[in-house]
Amino acid sequence: MDEHIPAVEPDPWRVDRDLPRTDHDLRRTEHDGVLQRSDDDAPAPFVVRAALPRDVPQIRDLVEPYAEERILIAKELVGYYEGVQEFVVAEDASGYLIGCGALHVMWTDLAEIRTLAVHPNWRGRGVGHAMMRMLMERARTLGLTRVFCLTFEVRFFERHGFRPIAGTPVDAEVYTQLLRSHDDGVAEFLDLARVKPNTLGNTRMLAELDPGAAGWGDAQR
Ligand SMILES: CC(C)(COP(=O)(O)OP(=O)(O)OC[C@H]1O[C@@H](n2cnc3c(N)ncnc32)[C@H](O)[C@@H]1OP(=O)(O)O)[C@@H](O)C(=O)NCCC(=O)NCCS
Repeated sequence: MDEHIPAVEPDPWRVDRDLPRTDHDLRRTEHDGVLQRSDDDAPAPFVVRAALPRDVPQIRDLVEPYAEERILIAKELVGYYEGVQEFVVAEDASGYLIGCGALHVMWTDLAEIRTLAVHPNWRGRGVGHAMMRMLMERARTLGLTRVFCLTFEVRFFERHGFRPIAGTPVDAEVYTQLLRSHDDGVAEFLDLARVKPNTLGNTRMLAELDPGAAGWGDAQR
């Protein structure tokens, strides 16, 4: 999978698949995308990469506390294994997972960013931003032009080009097709009555992607 994200100045982060600087980083090039901090003095580096099946128990552990607060939707363990290819993860220097997030395709042009979670000890240190970059790059690689999210983190998503919307941004025909989905996230996207208690206080947001724009998302910051 090609997850290469072009470096854009003066972004302090860079993705470098070809020039790993340590054995630790070299190991990570076996997976897609290596994210390194370009400032060597930076404390506590982390990498962002595609999730692997072996990450699933830690992904579940990251999401669970937020699900208990009804900030995110939890899945059964089997659901995470089934959806693991949608996920990216962030891991610290000792290989411990500190973040996860997923891009769930809904239709020809449309996907949802979901289950974006950063360990509380790591929040505000750029982990969410780094995962968003990889997820949005995936969206562009898939030829998608719109990305939806349902969130309390309005400011964070605005920084990534999302804008609040009202309603469900699909036509009646697609809406009818999406009604056939058994996915709870899709039910929330459709704003179905049975999931309303889960979505109280959330903001519906949409980002329009320009598929031709390199480094999309960086310009938003
Ligand atoms: C939303 C969430 C994923 C963001 O992750 P994060 O790692 O804290 O995000 P970042 O650090 O990249 O950005 C957060 C803020 O820190 C700032 N920041 C980024 N890098 C930073 C750094 N190195 N040092 C200090 N602050 C930094 C960003 O500017 C941003 O500021 P803003 O909120 O004013 O825009 C995280 O808060 C979370 O897990 N929330 C709970 C789950 C949730 O609501 N998920 C979204 C719905 S799917």
